[in-house]
Amino acid sequence: MSRFWSPVVHTLSPYVPGEQPKQDGLIKLNTNENPYPPSPRVLAAIAAAAERLRLYPDPHATALREAIAARYSIAPEQVFAGNGSDEVLAHIFQALLKHDSPLLFPDITYSFYPVYCGLYGIRYEEVPLDAAMRVQIADYRRPCSAILLANPNAPTGIALSRETIGQLVAEHPDQLVVVDEAYVDFGGESAVPLVAHYDNLLIVHTLSKSRALAGLRVGFAIGQRPLIQALERVKDSFNSYPLGGLAISGAVASLEDEAWFEETRQRIIASREGLAHGLAKLGFEVLPSAANFVLAGHPARGGAELAGALRACGVLVRHFQKSRIKDFLRITIGTEEHCRRLIDLARELV
Ligand SMILES: Cc1ncc(COP(=O)(O)O)c(C=O)c1O
Repeated sequence: MSRFWSPVVHTLSPYVPGEQPKQDGLIKLNTNENPYPPSPRVLAAIAAAAERLRLYPDPHATALREAIAARYSIAPEQVFAGNGSDEVLAHIFQALLKHDSPLLFPDITYSFYPVYCGLYGIRYEEVPLDAAMRVQIADYRRPCSAILLANPNAPTGIALSRETIGQLVAEHPDQLVVVDEAYVDFGGESAVPLVAHYDNLLIVHTLSKSRALAGLRVGFAIGQRPLIQALERVKDSFNSYPLGGLAISGAVASLEDEAWFEETRQRIIASREGLAHGLAKLGFEVLPSAANFVLAGHPARGGAELAGALRACGVLVRHFQKSRIKDFLRITIGTEEHCRRLIDLARELV
């Protein structure tokens, strides 16, 4: 604390990221990173871009927005790119979610959402997931300014269909619906094709997970032009160059290597199914995941206790001290070998 702090700083409850250990040799299944490297084309593109480091990058990240537009069959003007989807989300909260009525999001979801509400002074209400930890769109029929869902949700991994997202968006024509699709490439159905039909839908994506570029920090939003313009206005009042030249070039190369993307994501999906099956056989409750992680708990061992025991054996997983999920672990899908090791350890520990 310091007498120099602005008043708002005293009120913040900052997000606590998962541990990034300094020690080598740990199996890291705690922050939903991709266990495989990014496309080799990314490294080549970054090396080439390094020759232009003397210059400022393109403030509009035009090449990246064009690559995203080509990938999703939309127009570049419908794309906003930022320094990780966390930054894109931050701009969305400030540009589009601050109104008199509350913003709605689930009680169990990405824990950064309430943090942004605190930072920007946004009223919000948490809508409980149902007993099976699912989002029920009927529960969102209440006064609100906007709705924010992660789909698949985190940390449950459970996905809603595109049809259900379409129903939600259609039911709330005067509210913005933001869908955070950070994990959609691992088995969800993207709502991007709905953007052409709805002016109240905004989708958020990241290259951190399915493209294995968490360290590059690239995320983007897709929506109709007026929504994107709001984000551009906030961005250009904050930082004109959120994406460096290396990030822009690396991200473009990643989006152009569809074969690498497809192969690595299919391997992760196959490992997830194997891990979920293996844990279920040991008596774990495993929520049905469409993401690159599973949320799993065992009736015989508390979540914190199990996370601690796994850590002592060199495996990091994520545990949330939150009442409805405190008996669960969020386990990122690693390589086939990582998953085998986790199952072997779990067998010893439960
Ligand atoms: C649901 C969700 N949205 C967004 C993010 C942020 O991703 P990034 O800032 O790396 O793009 C995460 C990261 O874990 C996430 O789980």
